[in-house]
Amino acid sequence: MSKDNLNALDGFISHLDSIFSVTSYDAREIIATFHLEMGSGLAGTKSSHKMIPSFVGPPRGKEKGRYLVLDLGGTNIRVLAVELDGKGNTTLSAGSRFVIPQEMMCGTGDELFDYITDCIQVFYGQHCVGRQRTYDLAFTFSFPVEQRSLVSGKLIGWTKKFTAYGVVGKDVVVLLSEALQRKEMGFINVVALANDTVGTLVAKCYSDPSCDMGVILGTGTNACYREKAARILKSPGLAPLGEMIINIEWGDFSQLKMNIYDQDLNRASHNVDKQQLEKMVSGMYLGEIARRVIVEMMTQGLLFREASPSAFSKEYMLHTEHLSLVARGYDFFADFGLRDVSEVDRSTIRELCRIISTRSAKIAGAAIAAVVAWMYVNIESYHTIAIDGALFEKYPGYQDHIEGILRELFGERAKRIKLALVRDGSGIGSAIIGAIAVSDRPSGSGHDSGRHRS
Ligand code: BGC
Repeated sequence: MSKDNLNALDGFISHLDSIFSVTSYDAREIIATFHLEMGSGLAGTKSSHKMIPSFVGPPRGKEKGRYLVLDLGGTNIRVLAVELDGKGNTTLSAGSRFVIPQEMMCGTGDELFDYITDCIQVFYGQHCVGRQRTYDLAFTFSFPVEQRSLVSGKLIGWTKKFTAYGVVGKDVVVLLSEALQRKEMGFINVVALANDTVGTLVAKCYSDPSCDMGVILGTGTNACYREKAARILKSPGLAPLGEMIINIEWGDFSQLKMNIYDQDLNRASHNVDKQQLEKMVSGMYLGEIARRVIVEMMTQGLLFREASPSAFSKEYMLHTEHLSLVARGYDFFADFGLRDVSEVDRSTIRELCRIISTRSAKIAGAAIAAVVAWMYVNIESYHTIAIDGALFEKYPGYQDHIEGILRELFGERAKRIKLALVRDGSGIGSAIIGAIAVSDRPSGSGHDSGRHRS
């Protein structure tokens, strides 16, 4: 590469560094706007934080029983059997994972729910036949729903890769129960509906009562936390319940500065102007942001000069896993037909992956800081934050960046915030929520969908 080209490359990387940076000042601004939006969301006025009451409070650790769990939210459907011993211990006694074909995510709601029940049927055939006459199933549904009770909620809008037609505005528990009936599996009762963040918080809280926040950093991103019911101004009827978990739906936060790559990605997405934070942070999008930068650099002759930008022309062909590989010292070049990649190009790609993933982690860190400071202004007590998702678990250095920004913001007090990885939290937590729902049923009622507890 000529000296001029190297200078142009340096200039481009510094420009990227600046348009993807999150300074301490930016993080403080994120906290301040998060607080305004959280307040508005709780009051029921206009806000990009939906602040959805989950109709469940922290568990007592005494919930017992065997529950089936259906977990729908990312690229897979998972069906699990979870045992709760009533002493804070959980056992995942069986679990199956089914890939959701793209055409199911984007077809009709009936097709999607029929496919889901087929998965339950396969699981049932392998692990349940002949054991019991009826089964209680908790439904982890990781999309924004307007929750009306522990076991009902209308889909507000699809996120991530889903667009299935005819589901928005409908109660997803009804759709699932109808699909179970269609497949003659009416002996499976849907007893609870939970967001994955709520499941994750509840799963950790079952054995560690200091846990007050649940976060997902995976294909999508979101968080929930324990709120005083009296502060949920939009639902005054909840006040006597004491405490309730609020699903923030922070992925839809819309007050971040989007750069040109974010704007282009947003414009080309199926949910334009929605899920802006998610599009800058979550695993579904980091590869696509990188791909857009790579195409721009190739067009300007700053990267892979021997190849044509068409090598990276297909949207979403570059995945966050590719970036993660680079961060681990490997590369993804062969997957894109690139051979004999120069050391300069390799180091450019390393820089690019670092810049994009660091911004994601810092925004996530600022968002976590905002929620912790909302609960306890001076971080006077210890907090455990339950976190699940491949980005947090597997991306090298991701957790360090979150911890770094918490230290920048809170100094020594950041030591009071513990980030705990909770694998399978969303499924196990839903089972616990299922147990709460069942124990709340008035005896002899079969099932009751309207009750809630804290
Ligand atoms: C959804 C949330 C979910 C998150 C993580 C987002 O796209 O809106 O409900 O918790 O993904 O799965």
